[in-house]
Amino acid sequence: MQIPKDLIESAQTKISGLSNPADFYQLRSSFLGKNSHLTKLFSSLKDLPKDEKIAFAKELNSIKSGLEALFEDAFSNLSSKETSTNKNIDLTLPGINHGLGSLHPISIVTEKITSYFETNSYSVFFGNEVESDFYNFEALNFPANHPARQMHDTFYVEEDQSYLLRTHTSNTQIHAMMKYGAPLKMLSPGRVYRCDSDNTHLPMFTQVEGLVVDPSASFGKLKGTLINFLHHFFDDEMEVRFRPSFFPFTEPSAEVDIRFGKKGWLEVLGCGMVHPNVLKGCGINPAQYNGFAFGMGIERLAMLYFGVEDIRDFYNSDLEFLQQFRPSL
Ligand code: DAH
Repeated sequence: MQIPKDLIESAQTKISGLSNPADFYQLRSSFLGKNSHLTKLFSSLKDLPKDEKIAFAKELNSIKSGLEALFEDAFSNLSSKETSTNKNIDLTLPGINHGLGSLHPISIVTEKITSYFETNSYSVFFGNEVESDFYNFEALNFPANHPARQMHDTFYVEEDQSYLLRTHTSNTQIHAMMKYGAPLKMLSPGRVYRCDSDNTHLPMFTQVEGLVVDPSASFGKLKGTLINFLHHFFDDEMEVRFRPSFFPFTEPSAEVDIRFGKKGWLEVLGCGMVHPNVLKGCGINPAQYNGFAFGMGIERLAMLYFGVEDIRDFYNSDLEFLQQFRPSL
């Protein structure tokens, strides 16, 4: 087998004769590529007797590294030549302004709520949007055909209505209790779906659910928790009132209103003491543990917080509207 002694010199001559940098790769490949003479020599090594093989391999490898180093140098020379000779770039032109993005107002409000509860030792937990009838209704004490289901008309995923788009974030209470047991302090924001649409309702909206399971949980603590939260959220010690209401999964249940400037009393959330059937169904002994829970619509809070009159504005993707929530620099 003959090893060409002049491979490196011949590569050197061809590199210095390169007139077009675009030909660089082709030249490199003719010396080092799959079909190059060198590669063919490497593959013929296997036919040599063992003692010759070692000596040839050594020599071939040294030629290969010599060529690689040569092409590497040539490449950096070429690229620096190219940038220094490219006179078409006008460095005085202003850059392209891609604009500064920002969080969506609903994300801003969601973050404001979760960070408040996180600092009060609630764990944040995310639930499923496609849910079974069991977690959305049954385990929350809404038996089949219960009239309370009427307010939760939704979109079914299966013909037999066994899977649906969840109508509230209360499904996360069940998942959290079954997975983590008691005691528990959890918060869960996310999208929910209902068959509803006007200037204060959307078929898709966002809620946040809160749940505390503890022997010391009481209606008094629930009131304190929510009043403190609302005062913090609006940065205003407004009046808050609890109105008796009904939810199948809480007993007693209440709706919470705030006195909001000239608008008067406005309902902002639902809450109550977790129904013993719900605790029992999740394997928690109601004689040992109490629970309180609350759920609120994030768009509703965001409308009041930002002074938005039409809930649909949040989802029209109108840049002029969305840019108002961009933090100023
Ligand atoms: N899931 C209820 C709804 O969407 C809101 C709610 C009421 C959540 C009371 C709760 C609660 O956790 O205790 O209408």
